[in-house]
Amino acid sequence: MSRIAYVNGRYRPHREALIHVEDRGYQFADGVYEVCEVRGARIVDERRHMARLTRSLAELRIGLPMPLTALSVVLHETVRRNRVRDGIVYLQVTRGVARRDHAFPAAGTAPAVVVTARALDAAKGEKVAADGIAVVTMSDNRWARPDIKSVSLLPNILAKQAARDAGAREAWFIDAKGFVTEGASSNAWIVTPDGEVVTRPVDNSILNGISRTVVLDAIAAQGLRLAERPFTVAEARAAREAFVTAASQIVQPVVRIDGAPVGDGRPGPVATALRREFHRHAEFT
Ligand code: PDD
Repeated sequence: MSRIAYVNGRYRPHREALIHVEDRGYQFADGVYEVCEVRGARIVDERRHMARLTRSLAELRIGLPMPLTALSVVLHETVRRNRVRDGIVYLQVTRGVARRDHAFPAAGTAPAVVVTARALDAAKGEKVAADGIAVVTMSDNRWARPDIKSVSLLPNILAKQAARDAGAREAWFIDAKGFVTEGASSNAWIVTPDGEVVTRPVDNSILNGISRTVVLDAIAAQGLRLAERPFTVAEARAAREAFVTAASQIVQPVVRIDGAPVGDGRPGPVATALRREFHRHAEFT
C-alpha cells in the first residue's frame, strides 16, 4: 500500500511529498517535532504531546501552524489514510520558507507542517522487550536546551550510530558531573538494589518525555517507591534493573550498560510490569 504524507495543507503520495529547498527546517533545523504512538488505530496521549509541541514552539517563537483542533484532524486523517493500526505518527513544524538568513523571516511567514504515519511491527517490539536492550554511555555534547523537542538532532544521531556500532540499541548521555541525562531518543531509569525507581528530574537538560509522565502515573498506581534525582553511570551499573521510555518503544528493559550486565542480565520485574500496565495510564483519541 502506498504511503501518504500531509505536507502544508495537502495529502500526497510519499514520493510527491516534497518541501521547499528554502524551508528553514531543511536549511537550519529550525523546527520542532513530536512522535506519538498509534495503538489500535488510536493516537496515544495526543493531548500531552500537543501541549509539549505548543511549549517547544513558544520557546522558539514559532507560531502554531493551525489551531490544535485542526492539527488533531490532520494527525488522525494521516493515520487513517495510511491504515496504521500499531505504529507511530510523526509531526514536524518548521519556521517556514524564506530566503536564507539566520534571523527570523518576515512576520507572517507561515510555519511549515509535515505529518507522516507508519506501522511498526508490534511482535518485533515485544521480542526486543523480552530480550532487553544494551546501552552504551557517552558524554552529553548537546546544546543547553534538550527540553525543546527540536529537529536539530546531530548529537543524538551520532550517539545512536555509535551505539549501533557497539552492538547496542541506545546511547545514554552523561553530563559533566557524571550523571546520566537521558537516552539519544528516550528517557533513562534505574531500579536501585533496595527497589527504588530513579529517574532524572525534568529541567532544561532533558526532554520531558510523555511516556515518562505516563510511567510516573503507573509507578504511583503500583505503589512503587520513586525518586526523581540524577543518577551516575556507576549507580546504573550497580542497579537491579534499568529501562528506557519513549513513545515508539513504551518501556524497554535495559540489560547491559557498556557491556556489563544489569542485575542478572535479563529484563526485570519492575520494567516488565510497567510495560504491561503502561496503556492503562495513557489517553487514547
Ligand atoms: N524520542 N528524550 C529524547 C532525547 C527523545 O528523543 C525522546 C523521544 C524521549 C522520550 O519522549 P516521549 O516519551 O515523549 O517519546 C526522551 C522520539 C520517540 C523520537 O525521536 O523518535
